[in-house]
Amino acid sequence: MALVTSEKMFEKALHADYAIGAFNVNNMEIIQGIVDAAEEENAQIILQVSAGARKYAKPAYLRKLVEAAIEDTGIDVCLHLDHGDSFELCKDCIDNGFTSVMIDGSKLPFEENIALTKQVVEYAHSKGVVVEAELGKLAGIEDAVNVDARDASFTVPSEAKEFVERTGVDSLAVAIGTSHGAYKFKGTPYLDFERLKEIHALIPDVPLVLHGASTVIPEFVQECNKYGGNIPGAQGVPEEMLTEAAKYGVCKINIDTDLRLAMTAKIRQVLSEHPEEFDPRKYLGPGRDAIKDMVKHKIHDVLKSSNTK
Ligand code: G3H
Ligand code: 13P
Ligand code: ZN
Repeated sequence: MALVTSEKMFEKALHADYAIGAFNVNNMEIIQGIVDAAEEENAQIILQVSAGARKYAKPAYLRKLVEAAIEDTGIDVCLHLDHGDSFELCKDCIDNGFTSVMIDGSKLPFEENIALTKQVVEYAHSKGVVVEAELGKLAGIEDAVNVDARDASFTVPSEAKEFVERTGVDSLAVAIGTSHGAYKFKGTPYLDFERLKEIHALIPDVPLVLHGASTVIPEFVQECNKYGGNIPGAQGVPEEMLTEAAKYGVCKINIDTDLRLAMTAKIRQVLSEHPEEFDPRKYLGPGRDAIKDMVKHKIHDVLKSSNTK
């Protein structure tokens, strides 16, 4: 019944075959859909806020909405900054109630990523906040099918070990084949399990994180497109592969796009079937229900984190 860090969540998940769902939040309906699903599934949960989400909703609103969600449901929530790109942004979140921050130095050279991550870790730990960092670059649209591109961008296991030892970071996001957004890579979906197992063997006590873990479920893309959208039929990593990844040290799995697609498909459907409707509650309510159904599916069928509370 509080804001908590992910420390205890990951401790349990690391030695089990499930992962904690980390879902992106931008407004009240999304927060309510996610926490109601977590409550019904009796699951541990991470709510994450990107810099864009903070700008859209304003920090105080999101913080108060998350506090309200905890009060309303009685569940524990880890409030996490997603893709923090500077020490200043991480510090601001740490100083304003976040229990976890990500410092994303993955685009920086190795030594610079280490220096920036270390700076955030020192400040965060002095305030009882945990830190996620990232090493390697997620696959671009064309990358994952090309072996050279994979080797150039995916996380190098020996570097992962050196990185966590030198930074003292609490969890590490790795690049093994997932990619962000609805425009996933072309070709057969692919996860480099050999690389993941090697990383996990070298740093068995470090919780690993997968970003870009939406599957871009065709049913929802088609539903959006039916009402005039033009989202390409891209494929994300199949859900079975995510379930498998949870067995090799992956403790946190990030999902945003699948929630966006589910909510948008439902809102488009309602407005198309009821063009006379103009009460926002009449379409945002069903949108919230669609988020809840999707999160329950992810928790129960994919992440296997039901009844982990
Ligand atoms: O990985 C990024 C998340 O999906 C957040 O996206 O920056 O559009 O809020 P955003
Ligand atoms: P998706 O775009 O695949 O949902 O990934 C979300 C994410 O990684 C947030 O950090
Ligand atoms: Zn991400």
